[in-house]
Parts: sequence; structure tokens; C-alpha cells
Amino acid sequence: MELADRIKSVGASATLAVTGRAAQMKAQGIDVVSFGAGEPDFDTPAFIKDAAKAALDAGDTKYTPRCAGKLKAAVAEKLAKENGITVKPEQVLATFGAKHGLFNAFQVLLNPGDKVLIPAPYWVSYPEMVKLADGQCVFIPTSYESGYKITPDDVLKFGRDAKILVMNSPNNPTGVTYTPAELKAIAQAVLKTNLVVFSDEIYEKLIYGDTKFVSFAALDPRLPERTLTFNGHAKAFSMPGWRIGWVAGPQNVIKAMATLGSHQTTDPVSFVQAGALAAYTDPQSAATVEKMRQEFEKRGRHMHQRLCGMPGVRCVKPTGAFYCFPDVSGNYGRSFGGTKVSDSLSFAAVALEQAKVALVPGVAFGEDRCVRLSFATGMQQIDKGLDRLEALLK
Ligand SMILES: Cc1ncc(COP(=O)(O)O)c(C=O)c1O
Repeated sequence: MELADRIKSVGASATLAVTGRAAQMKAQGIDVVSFGAGEPDFDTPAFIKDAAKAALDAGDTKYTPRCAGKLKAAVAEKLAKENGITVKPEQVLATFGAKHGLFNAFQVLLNPGDKVLIPAPYWVSYPEMVKLADGQCVFIPTSYESGYKITPDDVLKFGRDAKILVMNSPNNPTGVTYTPAELKAIAQAVLKTNLVVFSDEIYEKLIYGDTKFVSFAALDPRLPERTLTFNGHAKAFSMPGWRIGWVAGPQNVIKAMATLGSHQTTDPVSFVQAGALAAYTDPQSAATVEKMRQEFEKRGRHMHQRLCGMPGVRCVKPTGAFYCFPDVSGNYGRSFGGTKVSDSLSFAAVALEQAKVALVPGVAFGEDRCVRLSFATGMQQIDKGLDRLEALLK
């Protein structure tokens, strides 16, 4: 059957070759250590599961204008209390995860050829979402030296004729978090352009050391009318499989997204929304998230330290999310067991075949000098995998 041009232009994930091979090796009984996970290894907290079960038992099984209303109000309250953003519940839309919100926001805002600024390295789905909305990606390069952060000058240089700037702090894949001062300076540059900002804040609660999180829309009173804030429950509340998130922003955009959603998915699952509501309203929530955050912090610090001690590796310290993104290009040109490594794909392939360690090649995120390691896995596994990687590189 002939496929539409729309889907033909969307690249298959470059990560699939490695993760598919890792799964195959595991199925053959080979002991592969996987650093590929983009999801927490913790189970969803019990009080969230209980809220969803109670909703089911209470007959919360219909289409959800009622429950959606409660979740919207809770998000509006959370934004006021934690993020310093004032929105009415009508300015919030519950979505099937942050990914769904981002996808639909591009759909309702982009006309063919509209430019979207994406700082690189980037989360894999942004460019494909832009393409599927007929937009044009403009990548803003960053480097190890710049800490993988864009600057106000970048915004002014690239932003004059673009429509949207995508910000993601804390960041996947780099683990980097912008400081409030850096974001404020970027915000001032944004205000000199006509840019709309998509602020993907899904890792807001997973920050480390003395890092402070600040929401983009809270940086200046003029920003809420040109910022969409995206979030979801997958990371902080360990609910990736529940597929729940939300977007908040100007009412006309939220209304357009609701109209699009009404012909697409309708609102997220009724009892899932009840679980999501508990994540924001249950008194146990903050302490539960904090416990997971502390564990991630410990693992991230350890992984970073060990990576920095390996030959040909340099790594920016993760201040958020649960990823290390080491630059391993110091090893390009070397041969391992007769195989020459020349890029992130060949590095990841050698790590998998010879050290039995699964990494995600950086090329998937627009940075071929790096690979991504998730520390959303137990400390023992982290050490086992890093021992193997170290032995390979030495
Ligand atoms: C930066 C970023 N945004 C969005 C998402 C998607 O989140 P969700 O599972 O809520 O759709 C992810 C998941 O990996 C992510 O890393």
C-alpha cells in the first residue's frame, strides 16, 4: 500500500538499531546492561494507584468533562503555587502525556514552512513533530564548552523570522538545567522577537545539587501570553505507562487544541486522570517524589564521576533529568576488537557487542560526538555496566 508523503519524511528512530539488538541479545540469554531507559525504574506510588482504582470502583468510567475539570483546576493551582504562573482552569488541557500535548500544539500553531528553533542536542521527537505539522526545523547548535546551552545572542540571531522556540530544561538528553539568570536573559531576548516559546518542563522536579528550577512563563509578566508550558506525570511521579500530561497557555491555543483533540483522542482516560489528580493533591506526594529525586541524584553523581575517569570521555555534570551525555569522541579513530569506531552509532554498537552495554547513540539527539546513558536503573547495574565500559575503553 502506498503511504502518504507525510509519514515517509519521518525518520525511523536511530536508536532502534541498538535497542532492538540489545533486546535480541537479552532474549538469547546474554547479560546485557541497559542504560537506554527513558523512564524511571520505580513503580508508580501506591497512593496514585489507589486513587485510580477508587475512581474505577466509583464508576468513573465515562467520557470525562467532570474529572477533566478537577484535573485542570489542580494543575492551575499547582502552577500558581509552585511555578508562579497564573492561569484559569480553561487555560489548561489534559493530554495523553507531554508528547501528545507537544504534538497537538505544533499542529494548531504551525503553517507550512513556519520555522521552529530547536536547540541541539534535542529530545528525539521535536523535529519529527515539527515535520508532521509541515514546519521547518532550525537547529541551534550548542557544544560541550557552552554546557549544551543556547544564549540570548542565539535567540536574536536565529529568532528573527521563526515562529516557535522549544526550550527543555532540565534537558533530555544532556541532563543540563539552565540557571534562572540564564533563562531570564534568554527570556529578554525572546521578548525582542515575535517568538512563541514551548517550554517542556517534564523534568522540573528532578533537579540536583543547588540547581533551582524556574518556569519560563514566570520570568516576565509579558511571557504568559506567548508561552505554552508542557508537563506530564511520567518522570516525577513514575507514571510513564499511564499516558497523562497537560499543557497550559493562552486560551485560544488551548481551545484550538481541545477542538483538535475532540476529533482525535477525546480527553485522557477517566481513572488515569484520577491518579494524576492524586499526584498533585495527595499529602504524601511531595515526600514520595523527593525520595525518588534523592536516589536519582546519588546515581547521577556517581555515574558522572566514573564516566569522567574513563579514557577519551568528558561529560557535563547532570543537574537534572536522569541522563549523562558523555562526549566519547576522544575514542573515535580507535579500534576495539578489530572494529574501528568513528561515530556514536559505531561506538554504541561496539559497547553493545563487546562490553554488553546498551547506550543510545547521540546522533539520535543531533550530537554525534556523544552517547546517552540513563541512570534510571539501580546502582548495582550502573556499576556493572560502567565497569564493563571502563574495561573496554582501557
Ligand atoms: C523532554 C521530554 N519531553 C517529553 C517527553 C514525553 O513525555 P510523556 O511520556 O509525558 O509523553 C519525554 C519523554 O521521554 C521527554 O524526555
